[in-house]
Amino acid sequence: MSILLSPLTLRGTTFRNRIWLAPMCQYSAADDGLPTDWHLAHLGARAVGGFGLVLTEATAVVPEGRISPQDVGIWNDDQVVAWRRITDFIRARGALSGVQLAHAGRKASTFRPFGEGHGSVPVEDGGWTAVGPTGEPFAGYAVPQELPEEEILAVPGQFAAAARRALAAGFDLVEVHAAHGYLLHQFLSPLSNTRTDRWGGDLAGRAQLLLDTVDAVRAVLPDDQPLLVRVSATDWTEGGLTGEDTAQIAVWLREHGVDLVDVSTGGNVHASIPVGPGYQVPFARQVRDTGIASGAVGMITTPHQAEKVLTEGEADVVLIGRPALYDPSWPLRAARELGDDTPVLTHRPGSPDAAVVPGQVTGWVPQYGRGSWD
Ligand SMILES: Cc1cc2nc3c(=O)[nH]c(=O)nc-3n(C[C@H](O)[C@H](O)[C@H](O)COP(=O)(O)O)c2cc1C
Repeated sequence: MSILLSPLTLRGTTFRNRIWLAPMCQYSAADDGLPTDWHLAHLGARAVGGFGLVLTEATAVVPEGRISPQDVGIWNDDQVVAWRRITDFIRARGALSGVQLAHAGRKASTFRPFGEGHGSVPVEDGGWTAVGPTGEPFAGYAVPQELPEEEILAVPGQFAAAARRALAAGFDLVEVHAAHGYLLHQFLSPLSNTRTDRWGGDLAGRAQLLLDTVDAVRAVLPDDQPLLVRVSATDWTEGGLTGEDTAQIAVWLREHGVDLVDVSTGGNVHASIPVGPGYQVPFARQVRDTGIASGAVGMITTPHQAEKVLTEGEADVVLIGRPALYDPSWPLRAARELGDDTPVLTHRPGSPDAAVVPGQVTGWVPQYGRGSWD
């Protein structure tokens, strides 16, 4: 069996394999942050295609935390009902579902990347005033409002309330989004956090909001549910966050009950990034070397490349983004290319799928070059 197709257990939760769907904004929510049939199809197709974990896109914990007006959210009960339909579908396919909880901070209220405009959506056109650690904007975006202390204190509770709703919506786990220049990353990075109070200053001060948020979320999750955090390991900019800073943050995250760090980079300032195959993998290794499980993501395109990341101990899982858009059944293809006959498609016992005998796990590997299909 390949490592890629082998199960992984974090806390009491077992993933059928180590190929996870990376969170990807679809900019396709109905009004008021509701997931739609689009999300059922997007996420459902990847569950059908064999992914071990299907992660949602950045899902806002409060309305003003959306990146764009078309982002999904999980701040009200209607959203819980809409998500439930999607998590039920994913579960019936034998995959696990995770929600990426997010607050966009100063990068909120922007136009989606296709269509209507660029940069910040003006308030008169349905946008809103974004917030950040300071009044310093992301270059090209509107000036945010500096968060006063009482509003900073509210953030962990907003994530915790969203995590509670995620449980009601049937998600198997939560990922806290602390990457890509969104609110928690804005606090972590010295490039965007120049506060002089207890939420700024040295790395410990800048990490305080993330750690308080992690504590609040961990407190509402059952013991057997993993908690993931996505970080941007480096700002790729002199004076910004470094891999060494992130290794220290990973140590703290582990101490605060995080089970896996999903390691991305960049997004907080415009920077020149040496993009290439597996260019973020060394950061996943740096995090893993501190003793916490890590996920590698970014330009991991082929099954052999992904398998090598795991066999060489650089990460515990791989997250697949754009290649999963080209091929929703990427894991199924990976099994074939790696010559692995592990059943990729499994159904969870007792799932509401009519084709499944209750209490039985079924596995199926469609074969090439066979004359019959039974
Ligand atoms: C359309 C699109 C939307 C994305 N949205 C998110 C997101 O909501 N949250 C996030 O953490 N990363 C997001 N990303 C980044 C991906 O999760 C992933 O890290 C990145 O695409 C690199 O992986 P890849 O080379 O396999 O695509 C997005 C990427 C794409 C292409």
